[in-house]
Amino acid sequence: MTKRTRVLSVAAGILLAAGVLAAVASTRPVARADEDSVLDQAMGQLNRGWRALRGPAASGDFAKVLEALPGMQEGAVKAKGEVPPRIAAEKDVAKRGEQQKRFRLQMISLLEELLVLEKAAIAGDKEKLTASLEKVRGIQKSGHDEFQEPEEKEHGGR
Ligand code: HEM
Repeated sequence: MTKRTRVLSVAAGILLAAGVLAAVASTRPVARADEDSVLDQAMGQLNRGWRALRGPAASGDFAKVLEALPGMQEGAVKAKGEVPPRIAAEKDVAKRGEQQKRFRLQMISLLEELLVLEKAAIAGDKEKLTASLEKVRGIQKSGHDEFQEPEEKEHGGR
């Protein structure tokens, strides 16, 4: 190999590597500014289950209630490790830590109640089911009152 061909083959190698890198980069998902956060996705999951089970709960269709519950429970598990924007915006580190603990505990209460709801549905106990639904409603309301941004409340989440 002459010096010239060696230089040419090194240059070709560099070009090839750059091409491969560019191709890999172009297949990476790019985060869009309007993309849903994990917390939003989890809330969406909770909301879909919540909408799906209230009618069947009222009419005593326990099978439908049981069908909707795992999605909600999964949503609560996903949400409890997240940081709501309202907490992230808190400048005082100690306050932020306290708020995050309360958020997580509130999400755990929701998850616990969703398991109580599941047991009531399995037992076919309408009275317990109704009482548990009311508790879920209360946990949702106080969670949103404390942690949802005021402008968020105007477009859903109730
Ligand atoms: C059955 C229970 C619940 C349902 C159905 C529900 C549903 C929703 C919905 C539909 C949204 C709006 C999402 C969006 O704008 O894309 C939302 C937002 C939110 N929810 Fe819930 N939620 C529930 C429980 C809770 C609880 C217990 C908490 C707090 C411990 C909570 C905290 C929040 C927060 C912080 C947001 C705003 C998220 C953000 O700004 O990114 N939610 N929820």
